[in-house]
Amino acid sequence: MILLNGVRKAFGDKQVLRCVDLHVAKGTSMVIIGGSGTGKSVLLRCILGLVEPDAGTIAVDGHDIHEGDRDAFLARFGMLFQGAALFDSLSVWQNVAFRLLRGSLRRPKAEAREIAIEKLRRVGLTPDVADAFPAELSGGMQKRVGLARAIAADPEIIFFDEPTTGLDPIMAGVINDLIREIVTEMGATAITITHDMSSVRAIADTVAMLHEGSVKWTGPVARMDAAPDPYLQQFIHGRATGPIAAVR
Ligand SMILES: Nc1ncnc2c1ncn2[C@@H]1O[C@H](COP(=O)(O)OP(=O)(O)OP(=O)(O)O)[C@@H](O)[C@H]1O
Ligand SMILES: [Mg+2]
Repeated sequence: MILLNGVRKAFGDKQVLRCVDLHVAKGTSMVIIGGSGTGKSVLLRCILGLVEPDAGTIAVDGHDIHEGDRDAFLARFGMLFQGAALFDSLSVWQNVAFRLLRGSLRRPKAEAREIAIEKLRRVGLTPDVADAFPAELSGGMQKRVGLARAIAADPEIIFFDEPTTGLDPIMAGVINDLIREIVTEMGATAITITHDMSSVRAIADTVAMLHEGSVKWTGPVARMDAAPDPYLQQFIHGRATGPIAAVR
């Protein structure tokens, strides 16, 4: 479903992605792990066409991401941005239903609101939150609103950038289960970025570890623990010493 070949991206003289090769099979859930600042969020932005790589190719469902209609391309995706990124001036339900209120996915307002309330329920929020504004919610609630927005239009492909950061362990478990369900029930293809190893185990079919701008290790989650790669082992066990320098 998603295929990256030799993707490179620098910002100024800072080479962030050096040569990324990655493939995500349709209907599977990939989790990307890796140190802070290794380019995980940039990678997702490249796939969406929000950041233009310096070299390499990116294809979604067999087509280069620059082919065809941009709106139709983006309509296939749902995205939870790192830090939720809600619109402050819109109510919660209007945030969730943002894409259902405009463009090619447009629905009548009452229907859009109903869908928003249903999606809020799926992420553990009650209907009374619908008319609140983002500033009135806790960080964890904002995160869940961002998640509800990402799934609002039943996308084929979903990106979750740090979906459980800032949530309590129980809510993190709820969100992990939800992501797993979305992939299994809706047949969606998902890429999740996380630092949370319990999320990795709950969500992933396959894991890719980014280090110094390329995929250091990738494979099925079941093979992660026994994989001999010292970078991967340091990361999954959170060791301060090892081949990955703690000061970057
Ligand atoms: N638009 C931009 N302009 C300049 N530099 C950028 C831009 N976007 C990202 N970077 C740089 O690219 C590097 C990778 O950023 P990115 O946000 O992808 O990291 P990350 O792996 O998601 O880290 P974290 O786990 O902390 O979220 C960082 O050094 C960042 O400063
Ligand atoms: Mg990031």
